[in-house]
Amino acid sequence: MQGVGKPIIVLDFGAQYSKLIARRVREAKVFSLILPYNVPLDELMAHDPAGLIFSGGPASVHADGAPLPDPGVFELGLPILGICYGVQLFAQMLGGKVERPSVREYGIAHIEHNDTTGLLEGVSARTQVWMSHGDAISQVPEGFRVIAKTDNCPYAAIADPAARRYGVQFHPEVVHTPEGTQIISNFVHTICGCEARWDMGSFVDRAIESVRDEVGAGRVVCGLSGGVDSSVVAMLIHRAIGDRLTCVFVNNGLLRKGEPELVQQVFRDNFHIDLRYVDAQERFLTALAGVSEPEQKRKIIGNLFIDVFEEEAHELGHVDFLAQGTLYPDVIESVSATGGPSVTIKSHHNVGGLPEHMKLALLEPLRELFKDEVRALGTELGLPDDIVMRHPFPGPGLGVRCVGEVTKERLDTLREADAIFIDEIKAAGLYGDIWQALVCLLPVRSVGVQGDERTYEEVCSLRAVTSEDAMTADWFRFPPEVLQRTANRICNEVKHINRVLYDITSKPPGTIEWE
Ligand code: XMP
Repeated sequence: MQGVGKPIIVLDFGAQYSKLIARRVREAKVFSLILPYNVPLDELMAHDPAGLIFSGGPASVHADGAPLPDPGVFELGLPILGICYGVQLFAQMLGGKVERPSVREYGIAHIEHNDTTGLLEGVSARTQVWMSHGDAISQVPEGFRVIAKTDNCPYAAIADPAARRYGVQFHPEVVHTPEGTQIISNFVHTICGCEARWDMGSFVDRAIESVRDEVGAGRVVCGLSGGVDSSVVAMLIHRAIGDRLTCVFVNNGLLRKGEPELVQQVFRDNFHIDLRYVDAQERFLTALAGVSEPEQKRKIIGNLFIDVFEEEAHELGHVDFLAQGTLYPDVIESVSATGGPSVTIKSHHNVGGLPEHMKLALLEPLRELFKDEVRALGTELGLPDDIVMRHPFPGPGLGVRCVGEVTKERLDTLREADAIFIDEIKAAGLYGDIWQALVCLLPVRSVGVQGDERTYEEVCSLRAVTSEDAMTADWFRFPPEVLQRTANRICNEVKHINRVLYDITSKPPGTIEWE
């Protein structure tokens, strides 16, 4: 991207951590991109990189078909930092040796160093790092020397400063390596010579310019859901082209309490964006009547959304672009460690499925950003925290949290319970510590007692998880009083619920949503 300086390119060898590496580089205010390990060199050089980082990966350098880059990558004169598999790989390719020790090293270790090459500058002489490797270097290639070791790993970090090649056996990108940020900053700033030019303040101006260039005199329609991504897209495009943007907000009856009001107030009343509010609650309820099967629900909701959106867009007359909140993780070409195709766990719903015949060009101004950058951009554009810091919410909304049949009454019950849970989480100051918190209404009833009366009512399950990227998640450890208050309030204040459960399944094996 113009004006942000040369990027650092992360070559992805199938690591779960490649995105994290790219994010850490951006946190050091340097633009980064992820490319597959076997990217052709001319394509790599077209990005004019300032340096390369070889990611880790699950393979062994000795395995048949181990992912290897084009050997010409070492002839480009670029600084390289290899991480874990990345360093083993260049040790092997440049004439060193890699072996499989009898024990795999996994977990916390401590490096000791007295490095003078710049990579570990400012890092404590003894510091904690995170190790996760089967193979290990047993002989460094010519030109390299050891700059750090641990008790188990004599080659924890190696360097050939003259060739600007560095490698670390540990993972500087994870939080368990507390001084890893310093190491990445040393690499990108001192070794690659990048300036700190990547931040959301300067991104705004560049992004506005580029939306103006792309749209010209055209008109744009944007499906606004009230989620972070579509909200930030709308704000950005509105700044760029004003009233030539129209947003369509579909109330499908599956939204959280207060959501339609919040969206209208923020975008129409506050920011004066041309917002079409479509009340389609009845249509969705009718289409969902009697349906309990999760995939069927998802398809009905997704297809109906497209119909409603299309009808509304048709009313607008001629439109040229459809704005979408596509983010960088959606466009990175992922490298599969196994090479196999992935199975569909859930069919996702978003505006991407609009029919061909609408013939709208896509406008995706966030396609280079990570989620945390989108939030920072939203704040920069003046969006309130209520929207910018909001937990993710699935396209099919409460439809996939109303396990079993979806009816107006059950949705109202669920909405109330959900609002209480979120309210208690916020009151306890925990909202920002949780990736996503939600309530599910289960298709069972239970007997209870209220006053002296026997009740036979609905059961709900609370779910709250921590996560980096929604691919894996862990259940959130609440102080017991927060769960107690939530359960009390739900049973007392929500008419049809008499029992509250807390879901302690991580992902995998559970998914975050129940359906
Ligand atoms: P699961 O339930 O698969 O969800 O663990 C992972 C994350 O994705 C969200 N989610 C969706 N987001 N359209 C979306 O835009 C969808 O159809 C959809 N389904 C699930 C879910 O809330 C979680 O954050």
